[in-house]
Amino acid sequence: MTEPTMRIGKILIDEATISRRVAELGGIITEQYRGQPLVVLAVLKGSFVFAADLLRAIDTPLAVEFVGLRSYLGGSTSTSGVVEITPDVKYPLGGHHVLVDEDIVDTGLTLDYLIKNLATRNPLSVRIAALLHKPSRTLKPIPIDYLGFEIPDEFVIGYGLDYDGRYRNLPHIAVLQPDDEQLALFPTP
Ligand code: PRP
Repeated sequence: MTEPTMRIGKILIDEATISRRVAELGGIITEQYRGQPLVVLAVLKGSFVFAADLLRAIDTPLAVEFVGLRSYLGGSTSTSGVVEITPDVKYPLGGHHVLVDEDIVDTGLTLDYLIKNLATRNPLSVRIAALLHKPSRTLKPIPIDYLGFEIPDEFVIGYGLDYDGRYRNLPHIAVLQPDDEQLALFPTP
């Protein structure tokens, strides 16, 4: 059976709430790393919006790097479980604290893979900043040092998160839901 057509559903976290929390996290991270060599490693693509805001809320010198990790295949709302590295980190991480910046921790498979991979590059430390966490979906527990919000098990879009490549530009976090016609085709019992 093909997946139903999807559309933007209710707003789960609005723009102002995200902005307040990101500012709080930036303040905490600033105190943690002040005067220390820091690389913020943003996991593409989903974290690019969160990273852009979080970086500007951190008031201590840092370098920014990007790594491409992909575990969801187009048009799917569940992880494939296979993590693919697209652009890799070029910056030498040895002698630096690494702060991984993720939009969402769902099963934890992506970060479990990345954390093990980073350990081979001899960083001073690796910590995790994640905007969203779905604890009910955990397969690999990830220690999230700086968490924006815990969310229920709903497929979310916006603020960098996509469905099939779309909706990353929404300023808030919304729930993805089947459109009304499709709801009629797939009625809930
Ligand atoms: C999303 C998200 C995380 C990962 C989390 O990436 O950005 O990297 O899934 O899922 P997990 O905890 O179950 O591993 P996605 O594969 O959708 O790619 P994208 O960031 O390019 O949208």
